[in-house]
Amino acid sequence: MSVREIITNPYADQKPGTAGLRKKVAVFQQPHYLENFLQAIFDADPRLHGGTLVIGGDGRYHNRTAIRTAIAMAAANGVRRVVVGQGGLLSTPAASHLIRSLGAAGGFVLTASHNPAGEDGDFGIKYNVSGGGQAPESLTDRIHGISLGLTRYRTVDGVQVDLDRRGSQNVGELQVEVIDSVDDYAHLMQSLFDFDLIRDWFKDGHRLCFDAMHAVTGPYAQRLFVDLLGAPATSLLNAIPLEDFGGGHPDPNLIHARPLVERMHGADAPDLGGASDGDGDRNMILGPGLFISPGDSLAMLCEHLHLLPGYRRGLAGVARSMPTCRALDQVARALDIPCHETPTGWKFFANLLDAGRVTLCGEESFGTSSDHTREKDGVWAVLAWLNILAATRRSVQDIAQAHWARFGRHYYARHDYEDLPVATAQALVQALQDRLPDLVGQRHGELQVSQADSFAYQDPVDGSRATNQGLRVVFADAARIIVRLSGTGTQGATLRLYLERYETGDLGLETGAALAPLAALADRIVHISQITGRSSPSVIT
Ligand code: G1P
Ligand code: ZN
Repeated sequence: MSVREIITNPYADQKPGTAGLRKKVAVFQQPHYLENFLQAIFDADPRLHGGTLVIGGDGRYHNRTAIRTAIAMAAANGVRRVVVGQGGLLSTPAASHLIRSLGAAGGFVLTASHNPAGEDGDFGIKYNVSGGGQAPESLTDRIHGISLGLTRYRTVDGVQVDLDRRGSQNVGELQVEVIDSVDDYAHLMQSLFDFDLIRDWFKDGHRLCFDAMHAVTGPYAQRLFVDLLGAPATSLLNAIPLEDFGGGHPDPNLIHARPLVERMHGADAPDLGGASDGDGDRNMILGPGLFISPGDSLAMLCEHLHLLPGYRRGLAGVARSMPTCRALDQVARALDIPCHETPTGWKFFANLLDAGRVTLCGEESFGTSSDHTREKDGVWAVLAWLNILAATRRSVQDIAQAHWARFGRHYYARHDYEDLPVATAQALVQALQDRLPDLVGQRHGELQVSQADSFAYQDPVDGSRATNQGLRVVFADAARIIVRLSGTGTQGATLRLYLERYETGDLGLETGAALAPLAALADRIVHISQITGRSSPSVIT
């Protein structure tokens, strides 16, 4: 099997965003497009030469084609061993765990997360480094720099790998191992949670409804919830992974996980509702008739995690992304542990986790995880909630009410304005940024602006700095308005407006009603309707 160098042209648009390189499938189907990006990675990370590479994806359209391309290029670039999930499937947290536990040099995670899939949908690739975390900004910048200057890439022809047959196969010198997608991950979960206790909880008649949204978590949910924990098979919705996710939008929120939400609000709702996204890193948590916002879920997990076997020694610290509500801060204060505030994007948690400074972290965008892996982990979050319900023998409703009574309640929502002209969105952000200094001290009814700035972060572990990570207008503990542009959209620009209102007691109001005055104030401050001409957001989560 001989290595070929193929002459190619660089593509200018291969700069990875918040979560890797994400584009329309048609973009990835351009000649040499994926190859160029992969070659830039092989060139940028010398550890891959002679090392182990993990490959897997969320099963969306183009997954198998991309995996074959990646294996051929791995063979040509001197990788010693490729470990790939059966059928090309690995959830993002499972891939991260494998990279870590195998001591691999890195991994290709083929996913566009919760974005729709299919021929007209999106595709994406994330490069995760040894240890399992997403490539840090310094590395993604290097990859991008190399991609801009590429003139040739290396591959081998005629690669035949059966992705459905477990076991070892050879591609020239390269050993390709196809493994069960779930085994290692299931073992990890068994080491963290009390499976006997949860099994008893199910035996006593408690019920779960988990929506895999026809994406990658189907097989994980089947193994963990049904085979190992004894929940009836009817506990799972949409558990068969499909290349187009059944035409749906596998984003676990109140809008896109409609069947689950309806079930949880109907008569005879199960005790716990959970859903995960395309690649299995996001989660949504519901109780009967009750949505637990991701920020609340994170705070409630922080309050109870020490009850679970993997966390009995307590939490070293916690972290949340800046726009995530500050409910977590309240619990951290009570537990007397550090609470870090990082920019949006999971990669910013990696150093804190590696340094043992945080045990639990999360984002408002339905991402939660712990130090067991270097990615957010949807199935983990559902298992953690199951274990808490089984250990406390309390309902989701009880846990939430007690939490709000003790720590107060953060009403929270994110308003997304999608597909705006890029120039308009940038102008809006710039104009607000210019006005920030004038806002400090301003009074708006009962609220007074205590701080208004552009968020910058200095990593406490390696000292690296990230600037321009979102604009925030803070009204002390009472409220925040945050504005930033998405780094994951594939069409136009997406403006995100985050609204947070804190009350020391439960107002007994539904979130939309509780936030309406703040939303109106945000429009007066940010001028969204005036500048964009949009009278309402495209999506509220
Ligand atoms: C979004 C979320 C962010 C998350 C990322 C990847 O990024 O806001 O929290 O880490 O997806 O799942 P954004 O589009 O806002 O840049
Ligand atoms: Zn995802």
